[in-house]
Amino acid sequence: MAMLLANNINNALVLATLTTDLHKMTNAEEVMDITEVVCLESDLQDGQMKEVEVDGHKILLVRSGGQFSAVGSRCTHYAAPLVKGSLQGDKVRCPFHGACFNVKTGDIEEYPGLDCLPSYKVKIEDGKVHVTLHTKEAKRLKQMSHQEPESSHTVILIGGGPASLVCAETLRQNDYRGRIVMVTKDDLPPFDKPKLSKAMNVESDRLLLRPKDFFQQHDIELWMKREVISINTEAKTVTMDDKTEQRYDQLLIATGCRARPMACPGADLENVKLLETFKDAQDIHNMCAGKKVVVVGTSFIGMEVASYLSDKAASVSVIGKSEYPFQLSLGSEIGKMTMEMLREKGVKFYMNDNVAEIRGENGKVKEVILQKGELLEADAVVIGIGVLPNSEFVDGTKIQKDKRNNIIVDKCMRTSVSQVFSAGDVVCFPLGIRGHEQVNIAHWQLAHAHGRIAALAMVSKPVEIKSVPFFWTVLLGKSIRYTGYGNGYTDIVFKGKLEERKFLAFYMKEDVMVAAASLNFDPAVAAVAEMMATGKDITRAQIESDDLSWLNMP
Ligand SMILES: Cc1cc2nc3c(=O)[nH]c(=O)nc-3n(C[C@H](O)[C@H](O)[C@H](O)COP(=O)(O)OP(=O)(O)OC[C@H]3O[C@@H](n4cnc5c(N)ncnc54)[C@H](O)[C@@H]3O)c2cc1C
Ligand code: FES
Repeated sequence: MAMLLANNINNALVLATLTTDLHKMTNAEEVMDITEVVCLESDLQDGQMKEVEVDGHKILLVRSGGQFSAVGSRCTHYAAPLVKGSLQGDKVRCPFHGACFNVKTGDIEEYPGLDCLPSYKVKIEDGKVHVTLHTKEAKRLKQMSHQEPESSHTVILIGGGPASLVCAETLRQNDYRGRIVMVTKDDLPPFDKPKLSKAMNVESDRLLLRPKDFFQQHDIELWMKREVISINTEAKTVTMDDKTEQRYDQLLIATGCRARPMACPGADLENVKLLETFKDAQDIHNMCAGKKVVVVGTSFIGMEVASYLSDKAASVSVIGKSEYPFQLSLGSEIGKMTMEMLREKGVKFYMNDNVAEIRGENGKVKEVILQKGELLEADAVVIGIGVLPNSEFVDGTKIQKDKRNNIIVDKCMRTSVSQVFSAGDVVCFPLGIRGHEQVNIAHWQLAHAHGRIAALAMVSKPVEIKSVPFFWTVLLGKSIRYTGYGNGYTDIVFKGKLEERKFLAFYMKEDVMVAAASLNFDPAVAAVAEMMATGKDITRAQIESDDLSWLNMP
């Protein structure tokens, strides 16, 4: 009888519900504890997870290392169902963008996302799994300390992006009780930048990573619309654009990158826009609706903007220097497929070409002349041709930069100057999965990870950066996910079918797999990221085999 029930999940749940040991009690904080039987012990094998419900609230139940544990079921980033992710030991990796959570504690261990998962009590009795619900909150903020009024120790964080924000939060989570000042040129508190090219007309409040009162609550001074123009690392001061000086004990430079401007004639005309800020996104949305738009650049920003505008503008023409979009990063095959996706929505491509001149009338764009001679009528031009690091203001200090102007940091995000740290898009850092080669990788996830590592070094709990890069892009509602660092790859091995837009691509550098990308193939890229993070070798033979069971796909 027991065997039969164990083999039949539905029966087991019916039994569990009928015999449920449901008891409700109120604890000291007036939170209702609800305990329910969610399944039989035998329903879950070691290394498996399952979504269960207590009082209608979804919970992720996990059996790992012989023990059951239960945590929130939705990723704290964009609420992906974690049951569809990749479980390795005590860590579940989100299928969407690679965030990792400890399934015993619910703690976030890899980004993106800021918060931990709630964790719930699990008890096994008579072969039944009981889970106690004490909160219906989907997220849990780690305990944060406060500033001690008498402390004069000051950390200045330059930049209001994720690297700075995670640094500030990690400091407070590690009992830092000095003063934290976050200085940013932005006129918004830290916001979800990747959304700017995917949902361009979203309201600013819906973009914020933390509510406005969060900073005050946690004693993080947020100085907006302020720019640091120079640093004196001998005197330990920074100078602001209003010429005031601020003393620091420790400094984080997390100033990210800015969009690279066009150098051609006409690039300064009205209606020629770069995409950097919330206002830029709003302006592009407003100026392009119902108009003839030319997008310059076929990497992530250009392609996402073209995709977003494809059903809003009167026409969208995309100009790219290579044969296919994403050619350098994702390769020709995937690039060609994305081009076809957008062509089906009426987007026109002018590849192997570039802008010679943007011509205007009364200060506004009228037409774009291509180097091959084509003339495109245009009411608006959006430029997405790469980025430049915001690091000029460190010139004159002993802070070392590479030849591309990225700030050089070590494995703990320390620069060449004592007590000066740097993180995010502005740095080149040693990448573990590539033998600690110094690289610059501008990913949302890595900026978070860098911020945490910098904060831990500041509070003398140094930990080396080990994050595996993870990136995503969204075209016409479909997400391409990418993990690793494919620079210098020699060939690509495909699984699935590109023409069906359901594939997994492995980027090989000779016989070593250096990166993977996928579309409609979850959670393969999360599983590969996890294997790379744990240092598991993935051989060419495994990749070329038709048997992908080594990926442990559900
Ligand atoms: C439109 C867009 C879409 C993107 N989409 C994705 C995506 O889908 N996936 C992904 O992984 N990544 C994406 N990215 C990249 C991602 O946003 C970055 O990797 C990430 O924001 C880097 O974080 P950061 O903290 O290093 O710097 P940023 O977020 O760039 O923040 C830099 C901060 O420094 C401030 N600053 C600069 N100079 C100064 C100064 N001198 N004084 C004071 N403040 C200063 C700026 O105002 C800003 O607040 C996208 C980027 C853009 C622009
Ligand atoms: S939804 Fe989980 S990492 Fe984005």
